[in-house]
Amino acid sequence: MDVKAIVSQMTLEEKAALCSGKDFWHLQTPERLGIKPVMVSDGPCGIRKQADAADHLGLNASVPATSYPTGSCMACSFDRALFRESGVTLGQACQAEQLSVLLGPAANIKRSPLCGRNFEYLSEDPYLTGELAASYIDGVQSQNVGVSLKHFAANNQEYHRMSSDSVVDERTLREIYLAGFETAVRKSKPWTVMCAYNRVNGTYAAENKRLLTDILRDEWGFDGYVVSDWGATTADRVKCLEAGMDLEMPGKNAANDKQLVEAVKNGTMDEKVLDTAAERILTVVLRYLDNRKPETVIDFEADHEKARKIAAESMVLLKNDGVLPLKKDAKIAFIGEFARTPRFQGGGSSNVNAYKVTSALEAAGTMGLQVSFAPGYAIQTAEPDEAMLREAAETAKNADVAVVFVGITDAMESEGFDRRTLSMPKNHEALVEAVSKVQKNTVVVVMCGGCITMPWLDDVRGVLYAYLGGEAVGPATLDLLFGDVNPSGKLAESFPKRLEDNPSYLYYFGDEQNRTEYREGVFVGYRYYDKKNIDVLFPFGYGLSYTTFAYSDLKLDKAEMQDTDTLTVTVKVKNTGAVRGKEVVQLYVGMPESRTLRPDKELKGFEKVELEPGEEKTVSFTLSKRAFAYYRTDIQDWYVESGAYTIMAAKSSREIACTASVQITSTTEIKRVYTMDSTVEEIMESPTGRAVMEKLVAGSGLVPSGESEGPDLGAGTAHMMEVMMREMPLRSLIAFGGDSVPEGLGETLLSQLNA
Ligand code: BGC
Repeated sequence: MDVKAIVSQMTLEEKAALCSGKDFWHLQTPERLGIKPVMVSDGPCGIRKQADAADHLGLNASVPATSYPTGSCMACSFDRALFRESGVTLGQACQAEQLSVLLGPAANIKRSPLCGRNFEYLSEDPYLTGELAASYIDGVQSQNVGVSLKHFAANNQEYHRMSSDSVVDERTLREIYLAGFETAVRKSKPWTVMCAYNRVNGTYAAENKRLLTDILRDEWGFDGYVVSDWGATTADRVKCLEAGMDLEMPGKNAANDKQLVEAVKNGTMDEKVLDTAAERILTVVLRYLDNRKPETVIDFEADHEKARKIAAESMVLLKNDGVLPLKKDAKIAFIGEFARTPRFQGGGSSNVNAYKVTSALEAAGTMGLQVSFAPGYAIQTAEPDEAMLREAAETAKNADVAVVFVGITDAMESEGFDRRTLSMPKNHEALVEAVSKVQKNTVVVVMCGGCITMPWLDDVRGVLYAYLGGEAVGPATLDLLFGDVNPSGKLAESFPKRLEDNPSYLYYFGDEQNRTEYREGVFVGYRYYDKKNIDVLFPFGYGLSYTTFAYSDLKLDKAEMQDTDTLTVTVKVKNTGAVRGKEVVQLYVGMPESRTLRPDKELKGFEKVELEPGEEKTVSFTLSKRAFAYYRTDIQDWYVESGAYTIMAAKSSREIACTASVQITSTTEIKRVYTMDSTVEEIMESPTGRAVMEKLVAGSGLVPSGESEGPDLGAGTAHMMEVMMREMPLRSLIAFGGDSVPEGLGETLLSQLNA
């Protein structure tokens, strides 16, 4: 069907109605013209289709659905194929449940470990976020169902989530908070993008034309519709529409529809703006309606197994002194209520009505294992219970090994509010302490959406970080504990030693004007800990395996290149242990001698490879301009500084296995207006400037030549001369040159530079 033709037949009122929902989850399509209403649902880690009473907080019932591991868990898989696969399964479920759009993935950056919604978000790193979000989108949309990439943008806290103002400088916005969205939009063309609740630099995301139109559409080529987060539309509906916020959800806000109609009628808004929004929405609606697969059925049992596989590929083994994998014939005690009643998903809009939840205790029963159990704590309280602790210690003592299941409760972590501490509840801490005192073989399994501190780390022999592992959390945990699956997850976020170490710590909760200043700039997560050389509990990219890997032979296909060339990087990785395993090979790039304040290293590539014992594979990466660039605000573009870059193949952000170096030359002409105040360094930045300057310096005697007679300057003085020269304004250079500088030389030079 021709969308433009349909829109041309719609009345003004019908077009306005299409730009806001019919109810909580449906769109108000022009049924008069034969277009059926369509439904959207949350996302992202399972579908939350509400049949009856609707809400956006996960409170009322929804249809049974498979609960997959949350974003924070799944991101640790560092596995694009897994994300795509899970997207395909979710897309199929949407077809079966007649959903046109799945509200996810959630691609906001984990700025602080306190964000209550970190469990839904992927990483502190924009490259990882963008790559994984893109794969998820590809998967869902391959089933002719759309996604809604959310929450655009700079929505990194739950505190005052509907009104806070994220005050972010341009470079930080581009490099950290937009980059993941940019990758996902450019690579995978999401059908819809959801604008965030918050303000960004003073303007609500819903009214933010710069974000929703200039950047999202004009720069990145987004061609779907922008939907408001539920209730994010401001009082000025016209301004939102003009900014590029096409669809208001939920509906029906008759007053807002009226605003749109009135604005067209009284000439304050061009009807074309409304037509464009209507066309965008209808295009997506029809793409879905024209490609329905009504025969699709959900195989809940098969999907449960998929959820198990995803969880086992994602959970991270943080500590193992040899206690793991456990032997199936050992006398094992499972301690902690989470072993029986697991925490497997987060609270709020992503909360699904799980088809079936299998606990570790239940899974152990199914596997025929003899496991004793003591709850150790009650979930509803944080207060330790002495009797329960005693019972737990007794049970642990009578076993060969104790596995303690602890974490963070729903009451401490959810959409809608932020955490106030990285500590586990007191009763969980007390349980680890009580058990590890009496049982030297203690392993801890942590169920939590984000990171925690671990004052007990030295007292236990193993730690498996399960995150929020979805409905099959129990069997997945056992797969890893018993070594049926070899752990391969790597942390997608840094675990600081103390909350106070986090770079956003001082500014996180904003000021009395509700402004949250992102003063740490681009130094988020490992970018900060590395630069400041701060010890962390566990670094970004870290995770253990039951085997070991050796890296060798890092090779670059060129030693020198221009920023327009691509660089091929290869590295050999060998499984040097006794069992099959998967390794996430990470590639970081840094520029040690940069003149700009930059992180020491940034993730620019990763590949997950599976290796048999003794097997070796060559892993290959291609790096192009963006891998070396930073966002330069004076030219409002990505810029590669000329110089040497270090390429690092790494096991984690703190374990670099091999390095190599490449020399890159910038091809960007910096279009600045040169004046007598421009420094030699600035002038030398442009290829024209370099040529002119070299000639000038060579012929003028402005710099003492190495061959000149006179006192030996010594290394320190020579360095001083070099630095002073570099930083000298043109006017001073000429003044110091005295008579040797021909009259008018400065003016001639400037006219050449500014030509
Ligand atoms: C959340 C969104 C969600 C929407 C609909 C909002 O409160 O921020 O992520 O998609 O509700 O449930």
